[in-house]
Amino acid sequence: MAITEAQVLDALRTVIDPDFHRDIVDLGFVKDLRVEGDAVSFRIVLTTPACPVKERFQRQAEEAVRAALPAVKSVTVQMDAQVAAASRAPLFENLIPQVKISIAVASGKGGVGKSTVAANLAAALAQTGAKVGLLDADIYGPSMGLMLGVTEKPKIDDEQKKMIPIKVHGLEVISLGFLLDPDMPVIWRGPMVMKALEQLLKDVAWPELDYMVVDLPPGTGDAQLTLTQKVPLSGAVIVTTPNEVALIDARKGLAMFQKVNVPILGIVENMSWFVCPHCGGVSDIFSRGGGARTAQQIGVPFLGEIPLDPSVRMAGDGGRPVVLAAPESSVAQAFRELAGHVAQQASIAAAASHGAEPEQA
Ligand SMILES: Nc1ncnc2c1ncn2[C@@H]1O[C@H](COP(=O)(O)OP(=O)(O)OP(=O)(O)O)[C@@H](O)[C@H]1O
Ligand SMILES: [Mg+2]
Repeated sequence: MAITEAQVLDALRTVIDPDFHRDIVDLGFVKDLRVEGDAVSFRIVLTTPACPVKERFQRQAEEAVRAALPAVKSVTVQMDAQVAAASRAPLFENLIPQVKISIAVASGKGGVGKSTVAANLAAALAQTGAKVGLLDADIYGPSMGLMLGVTEKPKIDDEQKKMIPIKVHGLEVISLGFLLDPDMPVIWRGPMVMKALEQLLKDVAWPELDYMVVDLPPGTGDAQLTLTQKVPLSGAVIVTTPNEVALIDARKGLAMFQKVNVPILGIVENMSWFVCPHCGGVSDIFSRGGGARTAQQIGVPFLGEIPLDPSVRMAGDGGRPVVLAAPESSVAQAFRELAGHVAQQASIAAAASHGAEPEQA
């Protein structure tokens, strides 16, 4: 008896997306299904190319078809992704409609590695094939120029009268640091910066982007609150170190985003532990595990932990994030896993913004 498309689809209904708790046929992920004799082929289009369970989906889909239809001789599953845009407030629509998902990287406390996480997150997402932009909105210490090795100023497109983002390491980058005089006292910056920030969204020729990663200044004061209202955000990632002082500030950061109704994608623990390069011994300098505990207490996802590793700082100072400078290192792997979890939570938040509330696992 001939194998039918309906039979294949029925088999694929047994593959459930762990985030959305629905099967992949129902979610509309299965495309271009073809049955030619005993050969079956189709594409699975996920909501992010950074999906951490991509391989598992591929394997499960193939196994599901083979198990249900023994007559099938070959199964070709092509994995693909189409980032779904979050629905946004009108402000967002007006300022950067070409950005599907914007992710703030924030912290309650300074110096916890926010910019480092932002740069590596952006680079890791871009490595999966996503189109990624990076907006450095840190009024106090824009650092993306240094971290990404950008020395030139952005050019202006004469026709559009818009600034063109700098292309570096596969990213589209704009930093307040490209525009501000580094010697200008911070006290004068406030009002100018708000104006400049609006321009960074409106007057920049941002291309179509799957993700825009936004590096925010540390803290939860008025300036930060205003920023979170000015920059239209689909979600926020909070970076913390595991020590209690940083965690108290991380909680304040969470509260700030809740106040302005920005979904919290989760908490990242940076500088979790340190491996001594001399003896190989592991030290939990800032008491590893605090980030995960806080995430659990507050009821937000824990996105991952990044070790304290001198190669992270060296790569940052050298203008090339560690995921690019040393992609095979274990710390690069930790950043890639983090990026996968962030993308996963961003997909969930985007679906929720359209009213399709997935249950939390
Ligand atoms: N996991 C890590 N291992 C080693 N060094 C790190 C790590 N994370 C960050 N650093 C280093 O710590 C310093 C501070 O990091 P970073 O500038 O990213 O922090 P930040 O939170 O953005 O700071 P600020 O609040 O000033 O914006 C940098 O020199 C950076 O290279
Ligand atoms: Mg910073």
